[in-house]
Amino acid sequence: MIARETFLALARRYGTPLFVYDGDLMLERYADLFRFIPADSLRIHYALKANYNPALLSLLRDAGAGIDAVSPAEVELALAIGFAKDRIIYTANNMTDAEFAKVMGTGVTVNIGSLSRLKKCAREFPGRRICLRFNPDVRDGDSAMTMTGGDLTKFGILLDCADEAAAIAASGGLHVTGLHEHTGSGLQHAESVLQSMDNLMGIATSARFPELEFLDFGGGFKVPYRDDEPRIDYVDMGGKIAAKFAAFCAGYGRKLLMRFEPGKYLSAECGTLIVEVNTIKHNRSRVIAGCNSGFPQLIRPVLYGAYHKIVNLSNPDGRPAVYDVCGNICETGDRFAEQRELPEIREYDLLAIGNAGAYCYSMGSVYNLRPMPAEVVVKGGEVFDFRPAESDTELVNRVLDRGKGR
Ligand code: LLP
Repeated sequence: MIARETFLALARRYGTPLFVYDGDLMLERYADLFRFIPADSLRIHYALKANYNPALLSLLRDAGAGIDAVSPAEVELALAIGFAKDRIIYTANNMTDAEFAKVMGTGVTVNIGSLSRLKKCAREFPGRRICLRFNPDVRDGDSAMTMTGGDLTKFGILLDCADEAAAIAASGGLHVTGLHEHTGSGLQHAESVLQSMDNLMGIATSARFPELEFLDFGGGFKVPYRDDEPRIDYVDMGGKIAAKFAAFCAGYGRKLLMRFEPGKYLSAECGTLIVEVNTIKHNRSRVIAGCNSGFPQLIRPVLYGAYHKIVNLSNPDGRPAVYDVCGNICETGDRFAEQRELPEIREYDLLAIGNAGAYCYSMGSVYNLRPMPAEVVVKGGEVFDFRPAESDTELVNRVLDRGKGR
């Protein structure tokens, strides 16, 4: 845990807005999973989409993690950071032929989630090793926008089509070495993971898919975002996962690798966005605390109605009052929190927005032409890595440069 004084010192040194990442906490979360799930065949593939900070990636690489990548650029980044190609899985959806061919060319395992793509693969890349993504038919997640199971979503091959998928793969001599499912993000119920495992293992028979080397059960491990939100008992759940998988392998006739692909679990809690309040406005019914950041830099509250904890770093013992904590963007919805009770906020106070390590910087944009903030990674009490923000002029030049050569 990074102390309040450290946040204040980092803000003084680097300015705000500033993303601060706790590298130790991320590695602790990585180690947690191995403690929770007692299976020596466990492999953790970090969902890079959650946070692509290169320093954090290098820590996970050194800890032995693999990568779940969803675009050719994510694959390229993972390879550049030094993840071995057999530790990277590419799970894009609705990929183009060019993207598919490009990633097939890298030797990274490609995870195919539609019969249409599978047919093209059988035709154009006969004899290759692939993974098949199935839709687990279980609905769970912390937002309807990130539940991926069920036939109302675009993800994966329906379980009913397992025979057809196996036949198409066989027609091209494809080696199906892995099966995959992902149920959703922020899974609320431990049972969902177990049910999705059952559903995938139900079709993963040795008669249908005799060459399996791994089963990949996706991501979705939830972390608390609110103070009063309990932690899921992952020790209990992990024991059940390991037992279930061992029983499956015994039936399958061979010991397979078990993979999970967490994003939030590894990186959400390790990140904090520090912002400075520059304007306090007393409207009739609301007190507005206006900050020097906005939803393009942390979009989850606006996009999903997500709750992010806010701490007043500068005045932790101030008299509580209720605030709308707003950003600097030209939209009314630009709020980090609405009607939130916080210790008195004064102009120039620094606020820490918690759980900002997953899907915050990575979902960022430069809307309103505000550069994304600087990022700093702290490890062992020291600054491990610092990445400055683009300056306004660099951003403007980037915008202008993109038009050159047309
Ligand atoms: N594997 C696959 C195939 C996925 O689609 C995802 C997330 C993950 C793993 C990692 O899920 P996680 O462990 O992070 O829950 N932007 C949203 C979350 C989107 C998740 C998309 N896929 C949010 O901020 O809540």
